[in-house]
Amino acid sequence: MTKDTALIHELDALRQKINYHSYLYNTLDTPEISDYEYDQLFNRLKELEALHPELITPDSPTQRIGSKVSEKFRKVRHPAPILSLANGFGPQETIEWYERIAKVDSRVKTCDFLLEPKLDGLTVVLHYENGLLVLGATRGDGLVGEDITDNIKTIASVPLRIPLKADLQAPEKIIFRGEAFITKTDFEKLNQENEEKGLKPYLNPRNTAAGSLRQLDPAVTASRPLKLYLYQIVSSSDPIPASQEAILEYIAGFGLPVNPSHWKAKTIQEAIEICQEQGQNRYAWDYDADGIVIKVNDQSLFEDLGVVGKDPRGALAYKYPGQEVETTLLDIQVNVGRTGVVTPLALLEPVNIGGVVVKQATLHNFDFIEEKDIRVGDRVLVKRAGEVIPYIIASLPEKRTGSQETYIPPETCPSCGAPVEKDPEMVAWYCINSSCPAQLSRNIEHFVSRSAMDIVGLGGQIVQQLVDAELIKSAADLYSLEVSDLVGLEKFGPKKAQNVIDAIQASKNQSLARLITALCIRGVGEVAAEKLSKTYQNLDQFSKASPEELQQIEGIGEIVADDIVSWFREWDNQQLLQNFKKAGLWPESLPAEEKTNGSLTGLSFVITGTLPNLTREQAEDLIKEHGGKVLSSVSKKTSYLLLGENPGSKYTKALELGIPILDEASLKDLLQK
Ligand code: IVH
Repeated sequence: MTKDTALIHELDALRQKINYHSYLYNTLDTPEISDYEYDQLFNRLKELEALHPELITPDSPTQRIGSKVSEKFRKVRHPAPILSLANGFGPQETIEWYERIAKVDSRVKTCDFLLEPKLDGLTVVLHYENGLLVLGATRGDGLVGEDITDNIKTIASVPLRIPLKADLQAPEKIIFRGEAFITKTDFEKLNQENEEKGLKPYLNPRNTAAGSLRQLDPAVTASRPLKLYLYQIVSSSDPIPASQEAILEYIAGFGLPVNPSHWKAKTIQEAIEICQEQGQNRYAWDYDADGIVIKVNDQSLFEDLGVVGKDPRGALAYKYPGQEVETTLLDIQVNVGRTGVVTPLALLEPVNIGGVVVKQATLHNFDFIEEKDIRVGDRVLVKRAGEVIPYIIASLPEKRTGSQETYIPPETCPSCGAPVEKDPEMVAWYCINSSCPAQLSRNIEHFVSRSAMDIVGLGGQIVQQLVDAELIKSAADLYSLEVSDLVGLEKFGPKKAQNVIDAIQASKNQSLARLITALCIRGVGEVAAEKLSKTYQNLDQFSKASPEELQQIEGIGEIVADDIVSWFREWDNQQLLQNFKKAGLWPESLPAEEKTNGSLTGLSFVITGTLPNLTREQAEDLIKEHGGKVLSSVSKKTSYLLLGENPGSKYTKALELGIPILDEASLKDLLQK
């Protein structure tokens, strides 16, 4: 291999890994690695790309702004881009921003500013028509978000109809933007309740808010204490007030929630002073805020200043650094995840960081503990930067009393005693025993969970009891459980036992996609499972797929394809499938049949970018319905590239190979033929 091809391989592998972990974090809310590890991968990619800019691909994660849209909710195109914000750290960068924009428009020199806390939550976009709340959406990638109307409607402070007072008239159509969040007080309460129920604590208010809003079941959202503050009008059929200050007043006038904390500054110096002053004050706020947004108050000036990339020139996020505090590392707990990954978790002497009590923090991985020489009993520095899980930065060896000993990572799994092994590609260690009880419990918790087989009534504690009592040794054993097996368990009467057994039996009717999700194959979440179930008719067919064939499926890369193949190769898993079949759990899907006489028969398509009207899935279905094939990568054999807005590297590749390019309208023309 030449040096160049080795580099291209490394870049490819890094991009795949980052995409995979970003998907787990952003789309599924189930990260497998810490933010620290993720940042390290990302920084390595940035570093390599900076050295070799010619190797940057348009679809590299470094070129992405915003997060991925989940496939679970209907997609909605925003009426105008939901913009982001440029960051400024400290007075110097703020002055630089001011000078830059003053050069663009000299009116900046005499304008005033409106300052608002930069809430650390989740952006939402609310559409009101004739006063009625008709749509609530997430930001998504800024152009297309997700329809979460039913979830938004569960937030008590969001009026379903405006105005609340009769003396105002709502515009025919008005769209607002705001931030949904959970207050620190409510977060503490929620965690206390979790503790009482023996459930795992949530890590931070932001992730909890984001996870709550993206629940498929609105009843779950309703049970979470979400709040919302609005701060912007995205579009309106009526004239919009002339300043940000007046906009906030106007929004509040309709009875909509607006943050009562905001400040006006006559000059940029005054704005900086307020930011510094509020920086001292911010821990007293009952919500997490990672900075202050400085906005040019005059709306026509704000508009005229325009946008650079995704950031409006007329606003800046004055960012505060994450807070660091000192506490004692009481113990290192070793957890086993459902894929067998073994990770260290710091148990801390409880400490208040920015208003949230922190008892646990990530230690990233065992290499980190060794590199930083972190010992149980050490005084340690813990950082909480708002959006991330608290993490240990360092130990303070000068504060050692002599009783602290070097930490020796476990050589065996804390649950089953089997050896742990290092993944050669990653820093993670894995328990190699696929029938490890801890893995088994996590696996079965996942199997019965709402996104997988959705077996109501089987929570984490019950699963643990079943595993401990050795009533189940695999997910297939669930299907041979009887009422009498459950009646002996804690808090189980005959009625509850019967309900659980009924729910288990009913789950035999779940779709193939859900069963694939439930299998716990590394890298195969709901979205991939949905795609796989459209390609294969049942688990027999799926289990015979080759890596090459799997990679033809959109979203399945080399790593995931290999993981799928090795999963099916494992003897235990083959047994599991046989037992599912015996139990009568063998869903069949109806993969789109290839039409032999459609207008697109014999043609293959590759899709890139966002289409104006169709979602990616709708376009795929349309092509398949007409007999065409949809492939994930461009080759000489591709008949057409279907091109949307913001295309990826497939576009460049298609141009290179001279593949004919279609837009959505010309695809529709082709269908008529
Ligand atoms: S203004 C054109 N104001 O911060 C307007 N953003 O890092 C641009 N945010 O995605 C946004 N509080 O979700 C604005 N008072 C506030 C905010 C705020 C929180 C979030 C917003 C945005 C992110 C940018």
